Amino acid sequence: MVEVNVIHCPLEEVAKHLEGCGDIFIVYDRNVTELVERMSVPAKSKLAISATEEDKSLMTVEDINRWLLDCGADRNAFVLGVGGGITTDITGFAASVYKRGIRFGFVPTTLLAQVDAAIGGKNGVNLDSYKNIIGVFRQPEMTFICQEAIETLPLPQILSGASELLKSFIIHNENDNYSKAVEWLRGIQPGTGLTVSAPAGLIAAAAEVKAGVVRRDPEEHGERRFLNLGHTFAHAIEKMSGESISHGFAVSMGMVLAAKLSAALGMAEPGLASRLESDFKACGLPVESPYRIEELTDAMKKDKKAEGGSIHFVLPLSIGKVTTRIMSAEEATKLLKNQ
Ligand code: GLY
Repeated sequence: MVEVNVIHCPLEEVAKHLEGCGDIFIVYDRNVTELVERMSVPAKSKLAISATEEDKSLMTVEDINRWLLDCGADRNAFVLGVGGGITTDITGFAASVYKRGIRFGFVPTTLLAQVDAAIGGKNGVNLDSYKNIIGVFRQPEMTFICQEAIETLPLPQILSGASELLKSFIIHNENDNYSKAVEWLRGIQPGTGLTVSAPAGLIAAAAEVKAGVVRRDPEEHGERRFLNLGHTFAHAIEKMSGESISHGFAVSMGMVLAAKLSAALGMAEPGLASRLESDFKACGLPVESPYRIEELTDAMKKDKKAEGGSIHFVLPLSIGKVTTRIMSAEEATKLLKNQ
Protein backbone atom coordinates (compact mmCIF):
# COMPACT_ATOMS: atom_id res chain seq x y z
CA MET A 1 0.00 0.00 0.00
CA VAL A 2 1.31 3.46 -0.79
CA GLU A 3 1.49 6.01 1.97
CA VAL A 4 -1.09 8.79 1.70
CA ASN A 5 -0.70 11.07 4.67
CA VAL A 6 -3.59 13.44 5.43
CA ILE A 7 -3.10 15.61 8.50
CA HIS A 8 -6.07 17.45 9.99
CA CYS A 9 -4.78 20.41 12.01
CA PRO A 10 -5.07 24.18 12.46
CA LEU A 11 -2.97 26.33 10.12
CA GLU A 12 -0.76 27.38 13.00
CA GLU A 13 0.30 23.75 13.56
CA VAL A 14 1.58 23.08 10.03
CA ALA A 15 5.04 24.39 10.99
CA LYS A 16 5.31 21.87 13.84
CA HIS A 17 4.67 18.95 11.47
CA LEU A 18 7.38 20.21 9.13
CA GLU A 19 10.08 20.28 11.77
CA GLY A 20 13.00 18.18 10.63
CA CYS A 21 11.97 18.34 6.96
CA GLY A 22 15.09 20.26 5.93
CA ASP A 23 14.99 23.53 4.02
CA ILE A 24 11.42 24.46 3.20
CA PHE A 25 10.41 26.29 0.03
CA ILE A 26 6.85 27.55 -0.27
CA VAL A 27 5.08 27.93 -3.62
CA TYR A 28 1.74 29.66 -3.14
CA ASP A 29 -1.13 31.19 -5.02
CA ARG A 30 -0.70 34.95 -4.64
CA ASN A 31 -4.38 35.14 -3.56
CA VAL A 32 -3.65 33.26 -0.34
CA THR A 33 -0.72 35.38 0.89
CA GLU A 34 -2.51 36.05 4.16
CA LEU A 35 -2.92 32.33 4.92
CA VAL A 36 0.77 31.76 4.18
CA GLU A 37 1.65 34.47 6.67
CA ARG A 38 -0.67 32.98 9.29
CA MET A 39 1.07 29.60 9.00
CA SER A 40 4.45 31.11 9.98
CA VAL A 41 6.32 28.20 8.46
CA PRO A 42 10.05 29.06 8.62
CA ALA A 43 10.67 28.90 4.87
CA LYS A 44 14.05 29.45 3.27
CA SER A 45 12.24 31.20 0.42
CA LYS A 46 8.68 31.72 -0.89
CA LEU A 47 7.44 32.06 -4.43
CA ALA A 48 4.02 33.51 -5.32
CA ILE A 49 2.49 32.22 -8.52
CA SER A 50 -0.55 33.08 -10.56
CA ALA A 51 -2.81 30.04 -10.42
CA THR A 52 -4.79 30.03 -13.65
CA GLU A 53 -5.30 27.22 -16.19
CA GLU A 54 -3.08 29.24 -18.61
CA ASP A 55 -0.27 29.38 -16.05
CA LYS A 56 -0.58 25.66 -15.35
CA SER A 57 2.16 25.07 -17.87
CA LEU A 58 5.71 23.81 -18.27
CA MET A 59 6.81 27.44 -18.24
CA THR A 60 5.68 27.81 -14.61
CA VAL A 61 7.36 24.49 -13.80
CA GLU A 62 10.59 25.89 -15.28
CA ASP A 63 10.19 29.09 -13.23
CA ILE A 64 9.79 27.08 -10.03
CA ASN A 65 12.78 24.87 -10.85
CA ARG A 66 14.93 27.89 -11.70
CA TRP A 67 13.93 29.56 -8.44
CA LEU A 68 14.78 26.40 -6.46
CA LEU A 69 18.15 26.23 -8.17
CA ASP A 70 18.87 29.94 -7.56
CA CYS A 71 17.98 29.45 -3.88
CA GLY A 72 20.41 26.55 -3.64
CA ALA A 73 17.74 23.91 -2.90
CA ASP A 74 19.43 20.52 -2.60
CA ARG A 75 17.97 17.02 -2.84
CA ASN A 76 16.87 17.18 0.83
CA ALA A 77 14.74 20.26 0.30
CA PHE A 78 10.99 20.18 0.92
CA VAL A 79 8.50 22.11 -1.21
CA LEU A 80 5.17 23.15 0.30
CA GLY A 81 2.40 24.07 -2.15
CA VAL A 82 -0.28 26.36 -0.71
CA GLY A 83 -3.39 27.10 -2.76
CA GLY A 84 -6.14 25.44 -4.75
CA GLY A 85 -5.86 22.47 -7.09
CA ILE A 86 -3.98 24.34 -9.81
CA THR A 87 -1.26 25.38 -7.37
CA THR A 88 -0.94 21.94 -5.80
CA ASP A 89 -0.84 20.20 -9.22
CA ILE A 90 1.91 22.52 -10.51
CA THR A 91 3.93 22.44 -7.28
CA GLY A 92 3.72 18.65 -6.99
CA PHE A 93 4.93 18.25 -10.56
CA ALA A 94 7.73 20.82 -10.22
CA ALA A 95 8.98 19.13 -7.04
CA SER A 96 8.68 15.70 -8.70
CA VAL A 97 11.10 16.64 -11.46
CA TYR A 98 13.53 18.97 -9.65
CA LYS A 99 16.80 17.03 -9.31
CA ARG A 100 14.74 13.93 -10.28
CA GLY A 101 12.33 14.47 -7.43
CA ILE A 102 12.39 16.09 -4.02
CA ARG A 103 9.91 15.91 -1.13
CA PHE A 104 6.75 17.94 -1.18
CA GLY A 105 3.48 18.53 0.68
CA PHE A 106 0.36 20.62 0.32
CA VAL A 107 -1.86 23.00 2.24
CA PRO A 108 -4.99 23.09 0.06
CA THR A 109 -7.03 26.28 0.43
CA THR A 110 -10.23 25.44 -1.47
CA LEU A 111 -12.85 22.86 -0.61
CA LEU A 112 -12.24 21.16 -3.96
CA ALA A 113 -8.51 20.86 -3.29
CA GLN A 114 -9.04 19.71 0.31
CA VAL A 115 -11.28 16.81 -0.60
CA ASP A 116 -9.92 15.98 -4.03
CA ALA A 117 -7.18 17.79 -5.93
CA ALA A 118 -4.48 17.83 -3.24
CA ILE A 119 -4.80 14.11 -2.52
CA GLY A 120 -3.99 11.24 -4.81
CA GLY A 121 -0.54 11.85 -6.24
CA LYS A 122 -1.54 12.89 -9.75
CA ASN A 123 0.54 15.99 -10.39
CA GLY A 124 0.80 17.72 -13.70
CA VAL A 125 0.31 20.64 -16.02
CA ASN A 126 -1.59 21.45 -19.21
CA LEU A 127 -0.20 21.41 -22.74
CA ASP A 128 -1.96 23.91 -25.02
CA SER A 129 -5.66 23.18 -24.53
CA TYR A 130 -5.09 19.64 -23.20
CA LYS A 131 -5.57 19.50 -19.46
CA ASN A 132 -3.13 17.61 -17.21
CA ILE A 133 -1.53 15.90 -20.19
CA ILE A 134 2.00 16.15 -18.77
CA GLY A 135 2.34 14.67 -15.34
CA VAL A 136 3.42 11.99 -12.92
CA PHE A 137 2.05 9.88 -10.11
CA ARG A 138 3.93 10.87 -6.96
CA GLN A 139 2.33 11.14 -3.54
CA PRO A 140 2.74 14.29 -1.46
CA GLU A 141 4.45 13.45 1.79
CA MET A 142 1.74 15.30 3.74
CA THR A 143 -1.53 17.03 2.87
CA PHE A 144 -2.74 19.36 5.61
CA ILE A 145 -6.48 19.82 5.97
CA CYS A 146 -6.85 23.09 7.86
CA GLN A 147 -10.50 23.95 8.14
CA GLU A 148 -9.91 27.70 8.70
CA ALA A 149 -8.27 27.85 5.28
CA ILE A 150 -11.67 27.65 3.63
CA GLU A 151 -13.77 29.49 6.18
CA THR A 152 -13.66 32.83 4.44
CA LEU A 153 -14.34 31.48 0.96
CA PRO A 154 -17.34 32.93 -0.87
CA LEU A 155 -20.30 30.61 -1.41
CA PRO A 156 -19.62 29.92 -5.15
CA GLN A 157 -16.16 28.66 -4.21
CA ILE A 158 -17.62 26.33 -1.58
CA LEU A 159 -20.22 25.14 -4.07
CA SER A 160 -17.56 24.31 -6.64
CA GLY A 161 -16.13 21.74 -4.21
CA ALA A 162 -19.47 20.59 -2.82
CA SER A 163 -20.13 17.88 -5.42
CA GLU A 164 -16.77 16.21 -4.77
CA LEU A 165 -17.46 16.34 -1.03
CA LEU A 166 -20.85 14.67 -1.53
CA LYS A 167 -19.31 12.22 -4.00
CA SER A 168 -16.85 10.99 -1.37
CA PHE A 169 -19.70 10.04 0.94
CA ILE A 170 -21.75 8.43 -1.83
CA ILE A 171 -18.70 6.17 -2.26
CA HIS A 172 -18.17 5.52 1.48
CA ASN A 173 -20.68 6.72 4.03
CA GLU A 174 -19.18 6.11 7.44
CA ASN A 175 -21.14 7.73 10.31
CA ASP A 176 -23.72 8.93 7.79
CA ASN A 177 -21.38 11.71 6.75
CA TYR A 178 -23.42 12.09 3.56
CA SER A 179 -26.41 13.44 5.53
CA LYS A 180 -24.10 15.66 7.60
CA ALA A 181 -22.63 17.11 4.41
CA VAL A 182 -26.09 17.77 2.93
CA GLU A 183 -27.16 19.39 6.19
CA TRP A 184 -24.06 21.62 6.24
CA LEU A 185 -24.38 22.71 2.62
CA ARG A 186 -28.12 23.40 2.97
CA GLY A 187 -27.33 25.54 5.98
CA ILE A 188 -24.92 27.81 4.15
CA GLN A 189 -27.30 28.76 1.38
CA PRO A 190 -27.55 32.55 1.07
CA GLY A 191 -30.06 34.17 3.36
CA THR A 192 -30.12 31.45 6.01
CA GLY A 193 -27.87 33.43 8.31
CA LEU A 194 -26.09 30.27 9.43
CA THR A 195 -22.36 29.95 9.86
CA VAL A 196 -20.27 28.51 7.05
CA SER A 197 -18.14 26.25 9.25
CA ALA A 198 -18.36 22.59 8.35
CA PRO A 199 -19.02 20.16 11.22
CA ALA A 200 -15.73 19.25 12.87
CA GLY A 201 -13.89 16.59 10.96
CA LEU A 202 -16.31 16.37 8.03
CA ILE A 203 -13.93 17.69 5.39
CA ALA A 204 -11.08 15.62 6.79
CA ALA A 205 -13.37 12.56 6.62
CA ALA A 206 -14.03 13.21 2.92
CA ALA A 207 -10.30 13.66 2.34
CA GLU A 208 -9.76 10.35 4.14
CA VAL A 209 -12.23 8.58 1.80
CA LYS A 210 -10.11 9.63 -1.15
CA ALA A 211 -6.86 8.83 0.66
CA GLY A 212 -8.13 5.33 1.52
CA VAL A 213 -9.08 4.59 -2.07
CA VAL A 214 -5.73 5.90 -3.36
CA ARG A 215 -3.77 3.88 -0.79
CA ARG A 216 -5.41 0.69 -2.07
CA ASP A 217 -5.27 1.54 -5.78
CA PRO A 218 -2.80 4.39 -6.43
CA GLU A 219 -2.66 4.11 -10.21
CA GLU A 220 -6.34 3.55 -10.99
CA HIS A 221 -6.54 -0.05 -12.02
CA GLY A 222 -9.62 -0.84 -9.95
CA GLU A 223 -11.20 0.84 -6.93
CA ARG A 224 -9.78 4.26 -7.76
CA ARG A 225 -12.23 4.34 -10.67
CA PHE A 226 -15.00 4.87 -8.09
CA LEU A 227 -13.71 8.43 -7.72
CA ASN A 228 -14.90 9.05 -11.28
CA LEU A 229 -18.53 8.81 -10.15
CA GLY A 230 -20.51 11.16 -12.42
CA HIS A 231 -17.35 12.26 -14.22
CA THR A 232 -17.90 10.65 -17.65
CA PHE A 233 -21.14 12.60 -17.97
CA ALA A 234 -19.57 15.66 -16.31
CA HIS A 235 -16.62 15.85 -18.71
CA ALA A 236 -19.05 15.61 -21.65
CA ILE A 237 -21.23 18.39 -20.19
CA GLU A 238 -18.19 20.60 -19.53
CA LYS A 239 -16.91 20.05 -23.06
CA MET A 240 -20.32 20.76 -24.67
CA SER A 241 -20.60 23.97 -22.65
CA GLY A 242 -17.17 25.15 -23.82
CA GLU A 243 -16.11 24.94 -20.14
CA SER A 244 -18.70 27.55 -19.15
CA ILE A 245 -20.28 25.01 -16.76
CA SER A 246 -17.90 24.49 -13.85
CA HIS A 247 -16.49 21.06 -13.07
CA GLY A 248 -18.31 20.95 -9.73
CA PHE A 249 -21.68 21.78 -11.25
CA ALA A 250 -21.15 19.28 -14.09
CA VAL A 251 -20.27 16.57 -11.55
CA SER A 252 -23.52 17.23 -9.71
CA MET A 253 -25.50 16.76 -12.95
CA GLY A 254 -23.31 13.77 -13.84
CA MET A 255 -23.93 11.98 -10.54
CA VAL A 256 -27.69 12.28 -11.04
CA LEU A 257 -27.31 10.80 -14.53
CA ALA A 258 -25.15 7.99 -13.11
CA ALA A 259 -27.90 7.22 -10.55
CA LYS A 260 -30.49 7.17 -13.34
CA LEU A 261 -28.31 4.81 -15.36
CA SER A 262 -27.93 2.58 -12.33
CA ALA A 263 -31.74 2.60 -11.92
CA ALA A 264 -32.21 1.75 -15.61
CA LEU A 265 -30.03 -1.29 -15.07
CA GLY A 266 -32.10 -2.26 -12.04
CA MET A 267 -29.07 -1.83 -9.80
CA ALA A 268 -29.79 1.29 -7.72
CA GLU A 269 -31.82 1.18 -4.56
CA PRO A 270 -35.34 2.48 -5.43
CA GLY A 271 -35.60 6.25 -5.17
CA LEU A 272 -31.83 6.87 -5.15
CA ALA A 273 -31.77 9.18 -8.20
CA SER A 274 -34.65 11.30 -6.85
CA ARG A 275 -32.98 11.48 -3.45
CA LEU A 276 -29.71 12.69 -4.94
CA GLU A 277 -31.61 15.15 -7.10
CA SER A 278 -33.48 16.72 -4.21
CA ASP A 279 -30.47 16.72 -1.86
CA PHE A 280 -28.19 18.33 -4.45
CA LYS A 281 -30.82 20.94 -5.30
CA ALA A 282 -31.22 21.79 -1.62
CA CYS A 283 -27.45 22.28 -1.47
CA GLY A 284 -27.63 24.86 -4.28
CA LEU A 285 -26.23 22.54 -6.95
CA PRO A 286 -27.72 22.21 -10.43
CA VAL A 287 -29.02 18.74 -11.24
CA GLU A 288 -30.40 18.99 -14.73
CA SER A 289 -28.02 18.73 -17.68
CA PRO A 290 -28.83 21.44 -20.24
CA TYR A 291 -28.02 18.86 -22.95
CA ARG A 292 -30.06 15.86 -23.94
CA ILE A 293 -28.28 12.57 -23.35
CA GLU A 294 -27.95 11.93 -27.11
CA GLU A 295 -26.04 15.19 -27.38
CA LEU A 296 -23.49 13.97 -24.82
CA THR A 297 -22.77 10.62 -26.50
CA ASP A 298 -19.98 11.80 -28.82
CA ALA A 299 -18.20 13.73 -26.11
CA MET A 300 -18.42 10.69 -23.81
CA LYS A 301 -16.79 8.53 -26.49
CA LYS A 302 -13.88 10.97 -26.61
CA ASP A 303 -13.38 11.01 -22.85
CA LYS A 304 -9.71 10.46 -22.03
CA LYS A 305 -10.68 7.53 -19.82
CA ALA A 306 -12.62 5.68 -22.56
CA GLU A 307 -10.68 2.57 -23.59
CA GLY A 308 -11.34 1.48 -27.19
CA GLY A 309 -15.01 2.45 -27.03
CA SER A 310 -15.53 0.95 -23.57
CA ILE A 311 -16.17 3.16 -20.59
CA HIS A 312 -16.09 2.17 -16.93
CA PHE A 313 -19.34 3.77 -15.78
CA VAL A 314 -19.45 4.21 -12.02
CA LEU A 315 -22.91 3.36 -10.72
CA PRO A 316 -24.22 4.28 -7.29
CA LEU A 317 -26.18 1.43 -5.68
CA SER A 318 -27.10 3.25 -2.48
CA ILE A 319 -25.58 6.03 -0.40
CA GLY A 320 -22.18 4.58 0.52
CA LYS A 321 -22.02 1.88 -2.15
CA VAL A 322 -20.95 2.14 -5.77
CA THR A 323 -19.79 -0.27 -8.44
CA THR A 324 -18.57 -0.07 -12.04
CA ARG A 325 -20.02 -1.47 -15.24
CA ILE A 326 -18.19 -1.45 -18.57
CA MET A 327 -20.31 -0.35 -21.52
CA SER A 328 -20.21 1.88 -24.55
CA ALA A 329 -21.47 5.45 -24.59
CA GLU A 330 -24.24 4.33 -26.98
CA GLU A 331 -25.45 1.60 -24.61
CA ALA A 332 -25.59 4.04 -21.70
CA THR A 333 -27.41 6.59 -23.86
CA LYS A 334 -30.00 4.01 -24.94
CA LEU A 335 -30.67 2.97 -21.37
CA LEU A 336 -31.04 6.56 -20.20
CA LYS A 337 -33.32 7.48 -23.10
CA ASN A 338 -35.69 4.70 -22.13
CA GLN A 339 -35.84 5.90 -18.52
N1 GLY B 1 -4.01 15.20 -7.56
C1 GLY B 1 -5.31 14.71 -7.71
C2 GLY B 1 -5.38 13.23 -7.76
O1 GLY B 1 -4.39 12.54 -7.66
O2 GLY B 1 -6.46 12.71 -7.94
